[in-house]
Amino acid sequence: MKTLGIGMVGARYGARMHLANYARMSRDLVAIRGICSRTKESGKALAREARIPFVTEDYDSLLARDDIDVVDICVPPALHHEFAIRAADAGKHIIMEKPLTGYFGMPGDPEPIGSRVPRVRMRQGARQNAEAVREAVRRNRVRFCYAENWIYAPPIEKMRRLIAASKGSILELRAEENHSGSNSVFSRDWKSTGGGALLRMGVHSVGACLHLKEWEGQSRLGKGIRPVSVLADTADLIHSPASERARKAGANQWISANPVDVENWANVVISFEDGARGNIIVSDVGLGGLNTRVTAFMTDGVIKANMTSNDAIETYAPDGSTFSSEYFTEKLETKAGWNRPSCDEDWFRGFAREIEDFVGAIREGREPRSGVDLAVDCVNVIYAAYESAETGRRVMVDS
Ligand SMILES: NC(=O)c1ccc[n+]([C@@H]2O[C@H](COP(=O)([O-])OP(=O)(O)OC[C@H]3O[C@@H](n4cnc5c(N)ncnc54)[C@H](OP(=O)(O)O)[C@@H]3O)[C@@H](O)[C@H]2O)c1
Repeated sequence: MKTLGIGMVGARYGARMHLANYARMSRDLVAIRGICSRTKESGKALAREARIPFVTEDYDSLLARDDIDVVDICVPPALHHEFAIRAADAGKHIIMEKPLTGYFGMPGDPEPIGSRVPRVRMRQGARQNAEAVREAVRRNRVRFCYAENWIYAPPIEKMRRLIAASKGSILELRAEENHSGSNSVFSRDWKSTGGGALLRMGVHSVGACLHLKEWEGQSRLGKGIRPVSVLADTADLIHSPASERARKAGANQWISANPVDVENWANVVISFEDGARGNIIVSDVGLGGLNTRVTAFMTDGVIKANMTSNDAIETYAPDGSTFSSEYFTEKLETKAGWNRPSCDEDWFRGFAREIEDFVGAIREGREPRSGVDLAVDCVNVIYAAYESAETGRRVMVDS
């Protein structure tokens, strides 16, 4: 089988993360043949580091190359669906960062759209974008690999095996993620990201819950257990009177998120067709480094998966500079005091196994574990949650 040629799209955090995990694989399996970014400088800088031979700012010229079989899309979410459809139409397989898509505004929308466009209309637009990608992928018979790293994280893989070993049912999945806010300037505006903490981060928690119930159903009943409805609340805690009171008192120095028209906190309850619940809490106001956890409350046991801070290694230093530039974990404010650095963040958070599965799936002509259906379902559940949070009512996912 020939070496798979990859074209990277985007040259910053997301692209670097993927490149680090291609680099773990054999060069006979996969080769990075080109990179496309908005500005030539940033593509060139990453190409130099990662030894990528072709650099462009023109996406079409990346798509036109015969030595590129797959495009790996790591650009801001507002470009995702259009870039995916163009790739599929050019006959390229696709690896796509989360979220698949969302609603980013239409001509004539009042601005800022996150404060002024009704969620019911946004939901319709996001669903159309998502379906258009699925349709293009099917029409062109290309593979679509949805980069939901959580479902490849070793703690979640172990959770799947433990669930399989029992005869019990999952009654509740509790999934959470928090940190002190995204570094990307795009994350501040709905028109660039398609939502706030719930879409940007909560998409992982939603993806994990949908995947685990789908998989439980497939293994026990021969068909997935579908999400039926959602009930949600969202908030901007950063601009709350509580935050303001702390600021006036000279406190509140650490949270870096500064949203314009997006939520930075969300709680979503998903009802599944077998009566189980998924309970998701995400927030941009969680100090202490990245926290990502999923707990399965089963009829016959409890399984807790922790993909970030755990006690495989613990450090103490009175001075935050003691361990110098050695990496601890994403978004940790200080290395002073007691800490729990990640021994291998890419492995623990699933990035290594995710890229391995995608390369294998495309080479072997099989579906990846995380494909287009999960990507579309996540968009549908999250936008139903946005509608629920606005109306205060439970919303049916397929309505
Ligand atoms: N799974 C995870 O945990 C995780 C973590 C972080 C990010 N992500 C995802 O990764 C993706 C990228 O995030 P990021 O943080 O890397 O974003 P970012 O810092 O905003 O970088 C976006 C990249 O896209 C490039 N770009 C923008 N417009 C383009 C265009 N028209 N044509 C070609 N390239 C273009 C930019 O080029 P320039 O450099 O020239 O501006 C930049 O390199 C997002 O979908 C995000 O959700 C996932």
